[in-house]
Amino acid sequence: MEEVRRDKAYRLLHPRQVVLVTCAEGGRPNVLTVAWSTPLSFDPPLVGISIGKNRYSHGVISRTKEFAISIPPSSLLEKVKGCGTLSGRKGDKFREVGLTPLPSRRLRAPVVKEGIAHLECRVVKEVEVGDHTLFVGEVVEAYADGRLFDGEKFDPEAAELIYHLGGMDFLFLGKGWRRPG
Ligand SMILES: Cc1cc2nc3c(=O)[nH]c(=O)nc-3n(C[C@H](O)[C@H](O)[C@H](O)COP(=O)(O)O)c2cc1C
Repeated sequence: MEEVRRDKAYRLLHPRQVVLVTCAEGGRPNVLTVAWSTPLSFDPPLVGISIGKNRYSHGVISRTKEFAISIPPSSLLEKVKGCGTLSGRKGDKFREVGLTPLPSRRLRAPVVKEGIAHLECRVVKEVEVGDHTLFVGEVVEAYADGRLFDGEKFDPEAAELIYHLGGMDFLFLGKGWRRPG
């Protein structure tokens, strides 16, 4: 076994599915790329996103207590990169990267129209975790493209989810799957 630098150890937990997290304040929507998202509880349905304290979205989510998660397909890779490098502090990121804010069902924050599934969340807890904050969100609404998600799972050949390997390297789902005996 080779030594892995402690500050690179988290990369051993990649690849991780990439999502787009949306928020809005004062009628101004924003979107950022997030690799550190996770399911947390079945009942109530809770999910978590870990957001760096220096992100513009961090303040918005902390003040508005809501966020949405949109799942990008592989065709959005360039836009995923844009959402993960530009800051909403400096302008309208939706417009800059060419994504469309779509009114959500239950939140002030929009979802990303080009996404293949959406989870709308209200923040129920904020946990300080080093230089990030873990925002725990209760899912208040969720919906998905029925051709890609059958209510239980994504179709692994059709859905083409994006996974973050590290840096600007990505991996795509779509090489088949197996269920152990
Ligand atoms: C592939 C990828 C994954 C990322 N994952 C996260 C993440 O999990 N948490 C986070 O805070 N920032 C993450 N980022 C960085 C933010 O998306 C980036 O800093 C963004 O510009 C912040 O936007 P904002 O200032 O408009 O909020 C990621 C970036 C990329 C490219």
